[in-house]
Amino acid sequence: MFDTMRADLNAVLQRDPAARNRMEVFFLYSGYKAVRKYRRAHWFHIHNMKFIARWLSQRARHKTGVEIHPGATIGKGLVIDHGMGVVIGETTIIGDNCLIYQNVTLGGTGKDQGKRHPTLGNNVMVGSGAKVLGPFKVGDNSRIAAGAVVLSEIPPNSTAVGVPARVVRVNGVRPDLLDQIHYSDPVAQELCRMHNEIQQLGLEVQYLKSEINKNSDRHKISPQSPAVTVPRGSGANGKGKEDTK
Ligand SMILES: CC(C)(COP(=O)(O)OP(=O)(O)OC[C@H]1O[C@@H](n2cnc3c(N)ncnc32)[C@H](O)[C@@H]1OP(=O)(O)O)[C@@H](O)C(=O)NCCC(=O)NCCS
Repeated sequence: MFDTMRADLNAVLQRDPAARNRMEVFFLYSGYKAVRKYRRAHWFHIHNMKFIARWLSQRARHKTGVEIHPGATIGKGLVIDHGMGVVIGETTIIGDNCLIYQNVTLGGTGKDQGKRHPTLGNNVMVGSGAKVLGPFKVGDNSRIAAGAVVLSEIPPNSTAVGVPARVVRVNGVRPDLLDQIHYSDPVAQELCRMHNEIQQLGLEVQYLKSEINKNSDRHKISPQSPAVTVPRGSGANGKGKEDTK
């Protein structure tokens, strides 16, 4: 428990450029205070002293403006920057070294039973005012933009922005969804099909013209030429009787 509390303290010093020393963080940082009090409340919660756990958690909420349910599972090195307005639900799971800004909600949609709250991987950042709602996972090293409302799973190493949130970067690169070059455009496809058909018709017209020219040339050279043979009956398949004119 003391190792975890030390890791939380060090994480604040690493992540917050305004934090000057351990004493300042320990006594004056409300986000750190909320996490410290959560750790104590969680101990009572898992040792089946739920009333005391809840009482400690409500006291912490009153003092810091951060409400963390004592049943939530939180890894080492969580930093809650500025604190005020953060709500973390009972079945939330948070990995190691996550960063959460003010007014973040890790909550449920009201539609799920059992596991109702999100799971954050390791090194996840949730920007100020963002809402992550539902029992899905936000992958390791992902970033949720300030003001985003996340309603579905976010893959690792991604950036999600907007309402509802959409992934705009994976490993710092725009995802394929935004690739306009390989996007199948139905209008372009139809135009391409028509273009091919017109080309084919052009070739057929050319062939017919050349056949007509050949026939007319033959008539010009020998007007008394022998009769032309025309297939009859089943026609072009050659099985029918041949007739002479
Ligand atoms: C999302 C964030 C982490 C940047 O992540 P990133 O991976 O570096 O993303 P980028 O800055 O490259 O932006 C990616 C795209 O998302 C957009 N974007 C960034 N932040 C956004 C936000 N909060 N809302 C909507 N769109 C946002 C960018 O305009 C960019 O758009 P584009 O694809 O059209 O170019 C950062 O913008 C953010 O929101 N940080 C929160 C910090 C915070 O809460 N601070 C509070 C201090 S008190």
